[in-house]
Amino acid sequence: MSRLLDVSGIHAGYGTVPVLHGIDIHLDKGEAVGLFGPNGHGKSTLLRTISGLLRPSRGTVTFDGQDITTAKPSAIVAAGLIHAQQSNTLFGDMGVEETLELSAFSPRARDGWKDRLAEVHTLFPRLAERRRQKAKTLSGGERQMLSIGCALMCAPRLLILDEPTLGLSPRLKGELCAAIAEIAKKGVPLIVVEQDVEFLLTLTDRLYLVEQGEVAREIDGSNAPDHQEIMDMYFGEGAH
Ligand SMILES: Nc1ncnc2c1ncn2[C@@H]1O[C@H](COP(=O)(O)OP(=O)(O)O)[C@@H](O)[C@H]1O
Ligand SMILES: [Mg+2]
Repeated sequence: MSRLLDVSGIHAGYGTVPVLHGIDIHLDKGEAVGLFGPNGHGKSTLLRTISGLLRPSRGTVTFDGQDITTAKPSAIVAAGLIHAQQSNTLFGDMGVEETLELSAFSPRARDGWKDRLAEVHTLFPRLAERRRQKAKTLSGGERQMLSIGCALMCAPRLLILDEPTLGLSPRLKGELCAAIAEIAKKGVPLIVVEQDVEFLLTLTDRLYLVEQGEVAREIDGSNAPDHQEIMDMYFGEGAH
């Protein structure tokens, strides 16, 4: 399998506050990988660095053989690296379907956008039902669906999802997990941050445990300890 993403020796932070201290992760074509770890330890910061929203102070990001470390976010989106951010707030007075349509703005994504819209509606029937509604009137779970739908409209060659089920009711979370599993089954390469390690183990090929701005552990999905053992290494035995 050939390499799709190589993140090497990344140091990054906010102002003078360092958050990431030399992160290495990678993803091969056709792979799905999961990131998990305690809150505030740098997972979202790492994703922002990969998608060009934050400049690393050291290290490189290579996407499909191209060094994108200093590329503009718009160029990174145009190349097909799509990051659905945690708590997406871009929704306002626009309609649901209009928002989806506008997401397919890059020349590469324009091609075949109607087919992709139909796929998004099949994946998320709620978005089809609410297609004429203003995006701001959607519930939290529906907004999350719209956020993933918009990412799919960009024709992702790598899709990054940051805690897509955060704060959702168990029923909506189930719907969203099923849809994400469906996206993975179609062969879209994925990086998913989730607290639900059990879901990540079913979804992904490998997991990275991110702690204190470093990869504390890499877990191979085909040879993974069970979910309980992972929770023990994460929280310490007997801590839950
Ligand atoms: N925009 C920001 N400005 C300053 N500090 C931030 C910002 N975003 C996150 N941080 C800090 O960076 C650290 C890592 O945060 P984050 O990457 O969001 O962690 P995670 O996604 O693992 O919960 C935290 O200490 C957080 O407070
Ligand atoms: Mg986060």
